[in-house]
Amino acid sequence: MNAPKHSAYADTAEEAIAAQDALDGPEMTSEMATEVAMQNTLLTPRFYTTDFDEMDAIDVSPVREDWDQLIAGMKADPNKGHFKKTDEWEANWEGMDPALKAEFIDFLISSCTAEFSGCVLYKEMKRRGSNTDITTLFQLMARDEARHAGFINDALREAGIRVNLGFLTQQKKYTYFRPKFIYYATYLSEKIGYARYITIFRHLEAHPDKRFHPIFQWFREWCNDEFSHGEAFALLMKTDPKLTESFSNKLWIKFFLTAVYSTMWVRDHQRPLFHEALGVDVTWYGQEVFRKTSEISKQVFPFTLDIEHKRWRPNLDRMERASVQIAKAKARGGLVGMVSRLTGMAKAGIAFVSVLTIPSIPNDVPDSPVMVPAY
Ligand SMILES: [Fe+2]
Ligand SMILES: [Fe+2]
Repeated sequence: MNAPKHSAYADTAEEAIAAQDALDGPEMTSEMATEVAMQNTLLTPRFYTTDFDEMDAIDVSPVREDWDQLIAGMKADPNKGHFKKTDEWEANWEGMDPALKAEFIDFLISSCTAEFSGCVLYKEMKRRGSNTDITTLFQLMARDEARHAGFINDALREAGIRVNLGFLTQQKKYTYFRPKFIYYATYLSEKIGYARYITIFRHLEAHPDKRFHPIFQWFREWCNDEFSHGEAFALLMKTDPKLTESFSNKLWIKFFLTAVYSTMWVRDHQRPLFHEALGVDVTWYGQEVFRKTSEISKQVFPFTLDIEHKRWRPNLDRMERASVQIAKAKARGGLVGMVSRLTGMAKAGIAFVSVLTIPSIPNDVPDSPVMVPAY
């Protein structure tokens, strides 16, 4: 395989990864970044595997028209070449406050891992499948995620850091999820990814002085990719009404919505300096991202979470405090550490159940889920 071109121009995930690998010299300190990316906790991005045969058997005929349009749009590849530095790129790592730098690097590593997690799953589906509709979609999505991960690695490389993508593929633990859980979780992570990137982008459009790193300038096209990926999962769910209409699946959807939202809340609140530098109130940001994601998810989910309910925010905050307690207890170790960790876990569990049992808001799902990015 030739890999001289930059990952931004790669037509497949494999090409993009090879191009990234070719850029990394021995001077890069990849251990720290890869170590962070290797972590598997409730809060860190995971790698997934699934029943690929079951996914390969999906028949997209019920959504054929919307499907063909979406795939044509992705094949047209409007963002080819976008995920590459230009003259506009001026990163000032030296001038960055060290504590902010640490949080920002953590943000980049975790984003890179999340992007790459999508790439690995999609690439594998493409490799294992024989259903052309499905393999075409997954190959296109894997291409996009590899470009995204590659671009973040470009940014990290300037700080002397890289995430070793090849190593991660081979060594990171994979979590098995049944296909329907992959749909719920991945659909949500694509749409929440869109909402996160566009909210930051719009905020910085209004406050350009807060743009402390050039990568945020790339977020608009970036989130449009994520938006299309989310559309694909919405269509996949539409092929089988049971997935969103049966009683037990509705419970699962509620569980995934609650888990994805609360994980984001807890993780973001652990990066105070990053949000302060952006001039973003992290609590406002969280609620705003939930609001956008909920609005979008009405395209396919028969209800949304009540994020204005009186039990909502206090319990997200409880989970956040509990997670700080758990982290401290882990670091402390010993019997006292263990007791504190267990009580922390119990507190987090109670708060999660309290949020999970908030009555949801019903929604009439439209016949065709198709949406365009509107924020
Ligand atoms: Fe992505
Ligand atoms: Fe994506």
